[in-house]
Amino acid sequence: MENARRPVFPRLAWAVAALLLSASGARAADAESDAVKRGQYIFEVADCAGCHTDVKNKGKPLAGGRALPTPFGTFFTPNITPDKEHGIGGWSLADFKRALRQGISPSGFYYYPAFPYPSFTGMSDGDIADLYAYLMAQPPVAAPSKPHDLKFPFSFRFTLLGWRLLYFSEGPLRPVAGKDAAWNRGDYLVNAVAHCGECHTPRNFLGGLQQSRAFSGNPQGPDGQKAPNITPDPQTGIGKWSDDDIATLLKDGLTPAGDVVGSGMAEVVKGTGKLSEGDLHALIVYLKSLPPIATPKKG
Ligand code: HEC
Ligand code: HEC
Repeated sequence: MENARRPVFPRLAWAVAALLLSASGARAADAESDAVKRGQYIFEVADCAGCHTDVKNKGKPLAGGRALPTPFGTFFTPNITPDKEHGIGGWSLADFKRALRQGISPSGFYYYPAFPYPSFTGMSDGDIADLYAYLMAQPPVAAPSKPHDLKFPFSFRFTLLGWRLLYFSEGPLRPVAGKDAAWNRGDYLVNAVAHCGECHTPRNFLGGLQQSRAFSGNPQGPDGQKAPNITPDPQTGIGKWSDDDIATLLKDGLTPAGDVVGSGMAEVVKGTGKLSEGDLHALIVYLKSLPPIATPKKG
């Protein structure tokens, strides 16, 4: 009797254990794919693909090689696909976080601020981890990164130490007390993720952002484009725009005059067009709260 019954229990236990295991495995896989999904949202709003894909020369997504001309020379964006040899496939999450939060590579060198890490530093640990999950889920591309073509002395990365002392302050961005949740979310989206100021804030001769004139426009924006004044100044900024006007611009790239935004902003709109209603609203609340700054003329 005993002998006949014995195997029943282990078989049952095994079945239960297998069921539990597969359930927890499925939960882990769900958590993983949720992280990838959340990471994709941050990736799109931050427009990582815009800089890291050489669309002009039909480069593969995120394989780098896009030329970014600046007053300091031409940068070529690196391959950020999970290729082990040419991309970031060998990076740990800690390596990735250090690059975004501190602007320092896994081998310890300083990044140039042509990589907008001075903005990305503001991202939360959670968003950085989600971004990492998303990037690691992309197809690897075995294409080597090109060296930058910079003018003397900018070709020496140690010159960045002084720059960092002057213009870099490490994140993450903290909520400002006394401001509501929408404003703080808008602050986070504009300054940490979508890095609007990297184009719309004027720079000094060292390439540092002039924060006293934040968002008042940059006559020498990236690629030599003029980035207009987006402070609420009624004459030279967007002070006369309604919330709907700003929403239409960020969703569809259309100005109140019916012009389609071009160049760099067209790329930005691909990301802001995917903002959730709540995030779009938060972004507008923040933009409208900026101090209005008048500029000599629109542009
Ligand atoms: C405005 C253009 C631009 C945008 C937008 C941008 N990057 Fe970059 N990125 C660069 C440049 C230029 C470098 C090279 C910096 C250097 O060599 O010092 C770089 C470097 C990197 C590196 C280091 C790669 C290596 O091999 O060391 C990583 C990782 C990276 N970017 C990830 C991202 C992610 C993630 C995003 C979106 C959140 C992003 N980048 C958005 C321009 C950009
Ligand atoms: C890569 C650089 C770049 C980034 C990043 C960027 N912009 Fe722009 N933006 C531009 C340029 C260039 C124009 C002018 C486009 C044109 O005239 O066709 C522009 C135009 C605009 C306009 C229209 C202003 C007007 O008077 O017509 C608004 C509003 C705007 N941007 C808001 C934003 C916001 C908000 C963000 C962040 C979510 C942002 N931009 C990020 C480059 C950028």
